[in-house]
Amino acid sequence: MRIGSLGSDSRGGHGGEGVTEAGLSFRRARAEDLPSIVRMLADDVLGAKRERFAEPLPEAYARAFRAIDADANNELVVAVREEQIIGVLQLSFIPYLTYQGGWRALVEGVRVDGRVRSQGVGKALLEWAIARARERGCVMIQLTTDKSRPDAKRFYEGLGFVASHDGMKLHFTPR
Ligand SMILES: CC(C)(COP(=O)(O)OP(=O)(O)OC[C@H]1O[C@@H](n2cnc3c(N)ncnc32)[C@H](O)[C@@H]1OP(=O)(O)O)[C@@H](O)C(=O)NCCC(=O)NCCS
Repeated sequence: MRIGSLGSDSRGGHGGEGVTEAGLSFRRARAEDLPSIVRMLADDVLGAKRERFAEPLPEAYARAFRAIDADANNELVVAVREEQIIGVLQLSFIPYLTYQGGWRALVEGVRVDGRVRSQGVGKALLEWAIARARERGCVMIQLTTDKSRPDAKRFYEGLGFVASHDGMKLHFTPR
């Protein structure tokens, strides 16, 4: 079953809670959503190597959540169906001098619950994020996807993203 298109109300403002025809809604994540979110982040070939889904959750996740939640330019967004968290992404709004002072939206940490992939949840979640970035007045929405994920690259291309740049990263061991 495919997820229906977004209702106009679900594209609405900060944490808009409209419901799609297929019963999918999007909202800002709450502290109590963290276990579901971290479970999804860890339930992935790459995520399994870098996340730690344990009971209780490592305190670092709660600290990070508080920092995100307190920042007006960061939104941790969840997709919800029948009160279950089935998707997540983080949106960051960044001011730049380039593009004549244009703001950009950065997407990170995209996951759909492994049990409901390929049902249109990811597409609806990204479409919500694109609409939100436009609503925030951004000139662009951008993301990186690991080169070991050719499927994810096709997923983003289907949404209109163009692989025009090579993303480069330099990892650090935190002090
Ligand atoms: C990538 C991911 C977010 C996509 O979400 P999803 O709900 O499974 O995808 P959807 O069902 O919304 O698919 C939307 C479109 O992408 C395409 N697509 C989805 N998964 C795909 C795959 N594995 N390979 C190729 N295309 C794919 C579909 O064909 C679909 O196009 P259509 O609507 O024209 O048929 C999800 O599969 C996921 O969490 N994967 C594991 C983690 C990951 O790769 N995250 C991205 C990190 S950058």
